[in-house]
Amino acid sequence: MANLFSIPQVIISGEKALQMSAQHLKSYGEKALIVTDDMMVKLGNVKKLTDTLDEIKVSYVVYSAINCEPTHSMVDEGVEIYKNEECEFIIGIGGGSPMDSMKAIGAVVKNGGSICDYVGKAIEHILPPLVAIPTTAGTGSEATKVSIITNTITDVKMLLNDPKLIANLAIVDPVFTLTAPPAVTAATGVDALTHAIEAYTSLKAFSMSDIYAVSAIKKIFDNLYEVYSNGSNIQARREMAIAALEAGIAFSNASVTVVHGMSRPIGAMFHVPHGLSNAMLLKVCLPYIKPGATARLNNLAKEIGVFRQGMTPDEGADAFVVATIALLRTLNIPSPAEFGISREDFFKAIPKMATDALASGSPGNTRRIPNEDEIEELYKKLWY
Ligand SMILES: NC(=O)c1ccc[n+]([C@@H]2O[C@H](COP(=O)([O-])OP(=O)(O)OC[C@H]3O[C@@H](n4cnc5c(N)ncnc54)[C@H](O)[C@@H]3O)[C@@H](O)[C@H]2O)c1
Ligand SMILES: [Fe+2]
Repeated sequence: MANLFSIPQVIISGEKALQMSAQHLKSYGEKALIVTDDMMVKLGNVKKLTDTLDEIKVSYVVYSAINCEPTHSMVDEGVEIYKNEECEFIIGIGGGSPMDSMKAIGAVVKNGGSICDYVGKAIEHILPPLVAIPTTAGTGSEATKVSIITNTITDVKMLLNDPKLIANLAIVDPVFTLTAPPAVTAATGVDALTHAIEAYTSLKAFSMSDIYAVSAIKKIFDNLYEVYSNGSNIQARREMAIAALEAGIAFSNASVTVVHGMSRPIGAMFHVPHGLSNAMLLKVCLPYIKPGATARLNNLAKEIGVFRQGMTPDEGADAFVVATIALLRTLNIPSPAEFGISREDFFKAIPKMATDALASGSPGNTRRIPNEDEIEELYKKLWY
């Protein structure tokens, strides 16, 4: 079977990546819409970007209202600003939320209608040039063909998936991640880990996606606890920024599976940050998928150095699952109850969440494909 592999046209990574991007930025047009959040403005990251744009005489307008995971109405607002201000390209700077918003705004600017109508459909017209500048080492949105926008009318986190959503330019400077507080560092790092594990164990995995997935997993095991406990370690931040990028490339090409399928409904219904809901689910879903993915999990045990001589593939796979759960434990991930979710509300929401999880298509990529009852059981396990 043939496999399609796609990545951004240009990736510039490492310290001073923004400055090195100047000529690329200039080639995209005379006026940019900068999509971001208030924190990026406050931290001075937007100023670093606008200083670069000033130097190359590109004008801009800043839309900084993406202060939570993006909704369809934020996309509408961004589209209006883009059109009224006659922008020619879009720069998303921030975590996955501003980058995903940038993609969705770009899609609607050129294709019209509401972003809510785009689910499950191919995007017809090419988007304006897109530039992604991540400030979390997490989503990998800078490299993916995915954008996730919540429809607040139906309470569904919509998964938009189209190669036209891949950024033209990804600027990955680890310096931007230095200010991320430990809780954000942990949740976003686990998101990247989940992308890589799910890409590697996906039914759609192939040799090109495997290379990126394995490289990301090794880097994350080596560096996630370090960036969580010592956020100013630039060497570890650099490794995590590249790991998140690699994990994004891996899952954009091989898809995610049951964890992400189940994670999005928790985010939509209970406003749990994306990385946190992944972390809660990873520890119950990994043992579930193990019987279908034993050989692959055994390989990962070898890659991260927890496979011991004489272990059977089953024991090797267990060793990887145990190592992952141990890493999660060091990051102090809250349980749903600790996060403040009422058990009663959660159990009431399980049937809708299970239906929405299956409808997203992601669970169908798992090497052990769950049915609706099994997904409901996995949700319940979060409370045991
Ligand atoms: N498009 C994709 O491929 C993809 C993949 C995974 C997740 N997502 C989506 O991305 C969104 C989550 O993105 P995220 O996890 O990066 O979080 P986020 O963008 O929502 O940011 C979380 C918080 O961290 C803050 N923050 C970000 N960078 C910071 C920094 N350097 N210093 C200090 N604070 C910082 C933000 O201001 C915000 O308050 C979700 O909607 C999720 O569904 C998209
Ligand atoms: Fe994710």
